[in-house]
Amino acid sequence: MSTTEELIASAEAHSAPTYHPLPVVVATADGAWMTDVEGRRYLDLLAGYSALNFGHGNRRLIEAAKAQLERVTLTSRAFHHDRFAEFCARLAELCGMEMVLPMNTGAEAVESAVKTARKWGYRVKGVPEGMAKVVVAGNNFHGRTTTIISFSTDSEARADFGPYTPGFEIVPYGDLTAMRAAVTENTVAVLLEPIQGEAGVLVPPAGYLAGVRELTRERNVLFVADEIQSGLGRTGRTFACEHEGVLPDMYVLGKALGGGVVPVSAVVSSREVLGVFRPGEHGSTFGGNPLACAVALEVIAMLRSGEYQRRATELGEHLHRELGQLAGSGRITQVRGRGLWAGIDIDPVYGTGREISEKLMDRGVLVKDTHGSTVRIAPPLVISKEDLDWGLAQLRGVLGA
Ligand SMILES: Cc1ncc(COP(=O)(O)O)c(C=O)c1O
Repeated sequence: MSTTEELIASAEAHSAPTYHPLPVVVATADGAWMTDVEGRRYLDLLAGYSALNFGHGNRRLIEAAKAQLERVTLTSRAFHHDRFAEFCARLAELCGMEMVLPMNTGAEAVESAVKTARKWGYRVKGVPEGMAKVVVAGNNFHGRTTTIISFSTDSEARADFGPYTPGFEIVPYGDLTAMRAAVTENTVAVLLEPIQGEAGVLVPPAGYLAGVRELTRERNVLFVADEIQSGLGRTGRTFACEHEGVLPDMYVLGKALGGGVVPVSAVVSSREVLGVFRPGEHGSTFGGNPLACAVALEVIAMLRSGEYQRRATELGEHLHRELGQLAGSGRITQVRGRGLWAGIDIDPVYGTGREISEKLMDRGVLVKDTHGSTVRIAPPLVISKEDLDWGLAQLRGVLGA
């Protein structure tokens, strides 16, 4: 057996089989490239599901982390630490909001957003106790906790995990009429991904997010945007909501906020909304820790320069032009996306998404299938145009174009 096979066999023997990874074992990575244990190089067109927007081993992020590692890494929230105030202030400012609730993973931040919206509903909106409803979209992906999978429409994500948390109303994504009908006086929030990543990079119809904004404002309902995957530069803007000129009531952030170095997530909102909490009502041992704050502060500084958003816009236009040509050749049935982010539906005669991903791996390109014959392309935003073109040439090769 090769080292790769041995390591995979050992991982399969000792880890819960919750994933079906491609048979590659990464040892090192730099920028948009990863190298496996046998020295083979791969172009990373997944970027850790957008957690690696700034690339592998980004020097600014690594230096920020190293410097903080030498000072203090964890205090818990029992005490203040000297990076916390700046992190909260800068993140709130980046979002055009006032307060931050720091957590670690995306799912924790979504859970925190749901708890925040419910508490706001009871304390501020005046919803009768126990009656709060949150409206969500079909095909959503917000994480894997018991409450979050309770409002998933993916049977694989839900099966055998009941009983489910009540209090959620599911409407079709992109359908404003259905959304309007679902919102009642007990609705405290509408929770949406501005672009549905895991569903296959689904972009809602133009005007949808602006329509949701108008409806939620009219009905005194919080608009909660889960920008965990769509946010922080991926679509060419800091937030995908900006494409429709929308400022939601709450951003839920994660993934790239920790620069692919440490898990950092947050709920960001107004004082009226996040100010509903009292000490002891919510918390996290690691949320807002010094190492997380130091890395996230560097991420925020990088986003403030606008450089990554510009790269995502320019390279994204190129990516979509090239994929459009492949679609014209009939090998791809649909391309969706925005910025440096694309979901491509491949004609099933060329194989399932998994088979295409394996063939790309053999050619030195790493991507991930989502559903059926859909493959997602989301390179680190630091990828060069030459490397992106090389990756696209491999895709053409796999499709015989
Ligand atoms: C939109 C969205 N929300 C939430 C999550 C969950 O994040 P995590 O895996 O960090 O819990 C994801 C992960 O893919 C996501 O894409």
